[in-house]
Amino acid sequence: MKPNSFDVDAILAVPLTDPYEKQHFSPNPSPALFTWDYASSRDNLSRLYEKAKTGQWNSNTTLPWHLNVDVEKTVSQDRELLGDGFDPSHYRGTVVESWGDKEWLEFGIHSRKWIMSQFLHGEQGALICTSKIVETVPWYDAKMYASTQVMDEARHVEVFARYLSEKLDGGYQVNPHLRLLLDDVLLDQRWDMTYLGMQIMVEGLALAAFGYLRQSTQEPLLKELLRYVMSDEARHVAFGVLSLKEAYDGMSDSEMKDRQEFAYDASIRMRDRFIQQEVWEHMGVKSKDIVPLTFNDPTRKVFQQMLFAKIVPNCKKLGLLDRNDGWLRQRFQEMGVIDFEHMPSGDQDYETHQAVEYAEDREMSPVNA
Ligand SMILES: [Fe+2]
Ligand SMILES: [Fe+2]
Repeated sequence: MKPNSFDVDAILAVPLTDPYEKQHFSPNPSPALFTWDYASSRDNLSRLYEKAKTGQWNSNTTLPWHLNVDVEKTVSQDRELLGDGFDPSHYRGTVVESWGDKEWLEFGIHSRKWIMSQFLHGEQGALICTSKIVETVPWYDAKMYASTQVMDEARHVEVFARYLSEKLDGGYQVNPHLRLLLDDVLLDQRWDMTYLGMQIMVEGLALAAFGYLRQSTQEPLLKELLRYVMSDEARHVAFGVLSLKEAYDGMSDSEMKDRQEFAYDASIRMRDRFIQQEVWEHMGVKSKDIVPLTFNDPTRKVFQQMLFAKIVPNCKKLGLLDRNDGWLRQRFQEMGVIDFEHMPSGDQDYETHQAVEYAEDREMSPVNA
């Protein structure tokens, strides 16, 4: 199990991905499972399958790609609204202290490229993990639904890749902590672990991060792109919650402890990947000089904690918070994210808000008019 405190040396000891790496082989030892039982016996999953079939959209004709993106302008506008995401008083005595508008703007532009790149790589992770779910999940309804998610994730890879190449002039290599997390998820042969790692942890975090960026940016193409991606992601998280609720309700304490530890380790890895050391290095700042300071920056802490807004209520719904004497509850308390337990879980979120908002938005969107 990974330590809760920020172990800066261990985090920075993981080498950055080679910028020239073109391929990565991830071991996936899970056997494919056929089912001959074609009866639809899980109404909640077959309803999601129907919604997924009618919710398909074509990124080429749906999104306003003709809009020009002035990266400097949009990052400047977002900085005016949100600041730089750092408290400057924490960086006295470092090179960052002397940064003016020019440096912070460049940092902001590269931060945007970096975060969009990690979204892109995470989407490819979702594409591959969901293909694995099609192969390994034993339930007919789940295989059928998961096949629609494979198409959704292909579309997400397509839109983030296009935005990066056409509008941001390229992006960053995959962060090594994200790659390690994806490797972990693919390596585990228990079918539910793919769901837990991808639908609950990675997609839960992505939904919170997409929501934050969509609310905070004024760039119309990005706002629209994220709105459509989020409408799919909400369905994906609901798929994870509904499937795992059934599986976990029948599990023993020791089986649940494995899942709690897996969720916690994934949380630590995801928290560690948001330090953007690639961007600091680009700006000529050594990660080892700056990253320890960012961990104690209160502005960063609020952002880091917000990323868990969707994960914690879903873990609660699945029984992961409270089984084994609240083992995971204690870990989330130490991470300062337990208060999110009162937010709606992914299935409630999807039923009550996302589907309605999506339908209304589609009709009212000014850029699609
Ligand atoms: Fe996605
Ligand atoms: Fe997804």
